[in-house]
Amino acid sequence: MYKIAIDGPSGSGKSTLAKNLSKKLGFVYVDTGALYRTVALHMLREGIDISNTASVVDQLAFVKVSFRHDADGSQHVYLNGEDVNAFIRTPEVSMAASAVSAIKEVRAFLLDTQRDIANTGNVVMDGRDIGTVIFPDAQVKLFLTAGNKERAMRRYEELRDKGQNVTLESVERDMLLRDSNDSGRKEAPAIPAEDAYFLDNSELEPEETLARALEIISGKIDI
Ligand code: DC
Repeated sequence: MYKIAIDGPSGSGKSTLAKNLSKKLGFVYVDTGALYRTVALHMLREGIDISNTASVVDQLAFVKVSFRHDADGSQHVYLNGEDVNAFIRTPEVSMAASAVSAIKEVRAFLLDTQRDIANTGNVVMDGRDIGTVIFPDAQVKLFLTAGNKERAMRRYEELRDKGQNVTLESVERDMLLRDSNDSGRKEAPAIPAEDAYFLDNSELEPEETLARALEIISGKIDI
């Protein structure tokens, strides 16, 4: 069974590429950021102080995270049985997800959920530690990057299209803060695997990024 790992910072186009690849190759697409977002949503709803590691860890006993795929391949995440897709993309949840994801116990809590899916078939998974921790044995590892301005603009447009009241400046500020939290943390820092291929898509359209990725992938596995 094949595993394609796609890591990189926020707004680098990971989920767009992963979705396009899964459609093209018929692999299951897994967005692991959604799992951390779901844990974060629970903490926010329960009024847990997320800077207090012990409180977050205690709450994990009351959290069940699962996901399913629609017929079109899109992923839905569930928090204690409730489909929470509509609630996990806000700036508040993004920052909280980055904070809880630095906690060792939170990462351990989500480990099996991520690994189990690879037993069911071919997967393309995006996140921050897929090539380094979740699937160090992935046949293909891509590390997607793009310039700060491009990434901030993409995030800004995505949030604005969802009707959220954000400014480009606030989106860029939050994004850079999250980047430094995610790459500077002790547990599973968001860094490229040694054997990852770098793909900078600042200047590329999604179809061009897909084409480049397919070139790399076809050199590694039989697709
Ligand atoms: O990919 P995303 O923006 O939806 O991820 C939200 C946060 O979750 C991100 O700031 C860091 C964390 N995360 C992680 O630590 N490991 C992953 N594999 C995926 C996400």
